[in-house]
Amino acid sequence: MVTKVITITEENRAAALREAGEIIKAGGLTAFPTETVYGLGGDALNPASAKKIYEAKGRPSDNPLIIHIANMEALPYIVEEVPATAKRLASLFWPGPLTMILKKSARVPYETTGGLDTVAVRMPVHDVALDFIEAAGGYVAAPSANRSGRPSPTTAAYVAEDMEGRIDMILDGGQATLGLESTIVDLTVEPPMILRPGFVTQEMLSVALGEIRVDETLLRADSGQAPKAPGMKYRHYAPKGELIVVRGDMRAVTAYMNEALRQGRAEKKKTGVIATDETLEHYQADVHFSVGERGSAKAAAERLYRILRECDDEGVELILSECFDEEGVGAAVMNRLMKAAGYHIVDV
Ligand code: TXA
Ligand code: MG
Repeated sequence: MVTKVITITEENRAAALREAGEIIKAGGLTAFPTETVYGLGGDALNPASAKKIYEAKGRPSDNPLIIHIANMEALPYIVEEVPATAKRLASLFWPGPLTMILKKSARVPYETTGGLDTVAVRMPVHDVALDFIEAAGGYVAAPSANRSGRPSPTTAAYVAEDMEGRIDMILDGGQATLGLESTIVDLTVEPPMILRPGFVTQEMLSVALGEIRVDETLLRADSGQAPKAPGMKYRHYAPKGELIVVRGDMRAVTAYMNEALRQGRAEKKKTGVIATDETLEHYQADVHFSVGERGSAKAAAERLYRILRECDDEGVELILSECFDEEGVGAAVMNRLMKAAGYHIVDV
């Protein structure tokens, strides 16, 4: 299969979105930009499309997909009911980086939900995404557009790296500005539960809903418990090299990381370090990556997946990373970093 890549411009926009929409309606797959990461879209109401998505990603088919919609009128068709909690969250955070889990209607095939009676729904805020969803018939099932196990793609070039030859089209709408996947909140349980942290933070959700819980399996090393979002159990976002996260007092962290890097070099490994603008120069490594200014979780969110992919591009075999602030969006950054490290954390 030849994958057609279209860079959206003012001139070609309408025609490109129409063509991309026709592909979805005909049962094909198109990758498209959202504000979080690129999605790999198929028709959410067509069971055959879901199967194609799993195949293209190399993803197990028990991992349910998020249905992307472009307006509130689309919601009642795919869910059993729209609870007051969903209306409130939608009015505050949609369109935007929030996914809600609701009871599915009979119109949503089990292929899309991985056999579950619930469905994940999101209305992205990216204008190309919204117009593409409309052109595609209003219901686009889309996981992140990476091959299973790779970091979610934040640019069309990263999508092409993983998906060239496996899907019909890639819509290039520039860089995904947020850089981490949407927050997932399960509204079918009481109190509602965060299954994946993101830009819509726990604090923001609890202002809107009152009591809210967080899936305990998310930030800790494997607790033996299965995470509530099936996708969170897979080793995600991982670079090919070994990634170790070091936590503790800054001076001890620097000393530990430099010693580990020195050992790595002695073993003839290519080494990398992930730190901040302020601390980067304290480390001796072959490749240095900064997540940005210390304390800027937004900058770290935007850069993290690119850094993990660049570790692979540079052939880094051993990567040492500092820990970053866990306040607000920082919780999402640390959740993804811990998963990328396979929860290999050293406390010093
Ligand atoms: O920002 C995002 O959410 C991006 C863009 C493309 O919209 N999408 C994305 O999709 O991250 P994906 O497939 O990579 O992650 C979806 C997550 C998985 O962990 C999956 O297990 C969970 O959502 N999920 C989907 N439906 C669910 C359900 N009914 N119950 C619990 N978890 C569900
Ligand atoms: Mg994903």
